[in-house]
Amino acid sequence: MKISVIGLGYLGATHAVAMAKLGHTVIGIEPVPAKIESLKSGHAGFFEPGLDEELAIQLASGRLTFQSSHDESSRDVQLHFICVGTPQLNGSLAADTSYLHSAIKDLAPYLAEDAVVAGKSTVPVGTAAVLSAELKTLTGHSTVNLVWNPEFLREGTALEDSLHPDRLVVGASNQHSQDVLREVYAPMIAEGIPFIVTDLATAELVKSAANAFLATKISFINAMAEIAEVSGADASALAHAIGYDERIGNKFLRNGVGFGGGCLPKDIRALMARAEELGVGQSVAYLKEIDKINIRRRDRVITLLSQELGSLSGKKVLVLGAAFKPDSDDVRDSPALEIAFLINAAGAEAIVHDPIALSGVNKKHPELTTETDLHKAFIGVDAVVLATEWTDYRNLDPATVSGVSNKLIIDGRNVLDVSRWQNAGFKVLALGKTITN
Ligand code: UDX
Repeated sequence: MKISVIGLGYLGATHAVAMAKLGHTVIGIEPVPAKIESLKSGHAGFFEPGLDEELAIQLASGRLTFQSSHDESSRDVQLHFICVGTPQLNGSLAADTSYLHSAIKDLAPYLAEDAVVAGKSTVPVGTAAVLSAELKTLTGHSTVNLVWNPEFLREGTALEDSLHPDRLVVGASNQHSQDVLREVYAPMIAEGIPFIVTDLATAELVKSAANAFLATKISFINAMAEIAEVSGADASALAHAIGYDERIGNKFLRNGVGFGGGCLPKDIRALMARAEELGVGQSVAYLKEIDKINIRRRDRVITLLSQELGSLSGKKVLVLGAAFKPDSDDVRDSPALEIAFLINAAGAEAIVHDPIALSGVNKKHPELTTETDLHKAFIGVDAVVLATEWTDYRNLDPATVSGVSNKLIIDGRNVLDVSRWQNAGFKVLALGKTITN
């Protein structure tokens, strides 16, 4: 099928590569010149395991091309995927949907009457109906084939998630649109991946609901961690035990410094804002608490540091990790960076290490001190905080660490081998449990 993918950020770039891998002819459209140049030269522009390699293969196949805007080649495209960002609006909890409206406006003059437009971005429920009406006016077509097809990919496993998702969800208002989506995803459907057809609003809400549920699970276990910390219980052991109940499940129950990234935090806030607009703010008012629990976990690290070091003024604290999770260079809403800012705000100096994400940190936050060499990063520090569970940190042999001023480490992700660090002379503290040192 000839398709276009509009917006080539994390979602779009991955989706374009995935669609080309399925055998489709894909035109990727992105107005930012640097992104186009990078993609054309085989670099997605962000760190995602396996993506650049697959991008190179698909570029070489000739099925995948990139351009900065629509042209005559868009006129016979059968399916346009819209993958533009919907970031949090400045000064508001709501999502900024302006990129979607621009994408629709740019596409309209080239849209064939029977072509299908599939939105993949995460949007406030009701957005698709508005975009559909806009498309009708702009094109003058009597019917427009707009579907909503949310994407559930996770950073770090984005390509695999795009090609083998748990489910495909398609909100479609007519049979033709549904058929085109079935055709584009035929290899996945043949593999047994469920293809769920809903109305537009449900499809939009599925994504917001899924992310709200995931955020709730994480904050739930982090709330239990707060109780564990004052009662002598162990939140990791608790999660392990409750996770055996199939109704609960053991995934997304890792307690620690909480969730971050470009999706969960902004998506729960956008859901609260949209519910408020719809007059049912009360229904998801609890998400405010989910957000607050998440933020409190970062504060907990500062409390532990202060308990151990007294005043933080003039102290040096190494923060292991900058990315919001391992196998990603994404520092949006990263708990690790927030902790670094809090350390600095308390009068100490945070030294930030990350195996991949430091160039982004240096660009976005030049005020932060960073160190690329893991062993050098330890020199002269009064404490260490593990904030992102990179394999490099899990595998680090504490016996090879030298030069610290004070042997204290706080495990913010509950991944360290405690006795190994203790044997190397470190005092180990962790979130969600009390460790006897
Ligand atoms: C998330 C959703 O999982 C995905 O379906 C959606 O499409 C986009 O948002 P992503 O942002 O890539 O994906 O990260 P995810 O793996 O969900 O982790 C989000 C955050 O939660 C990370 O900061 C991670 O460290 C944290 N987390 C995750 C926990 O603190 N505990 C857990 O048990 C799981």
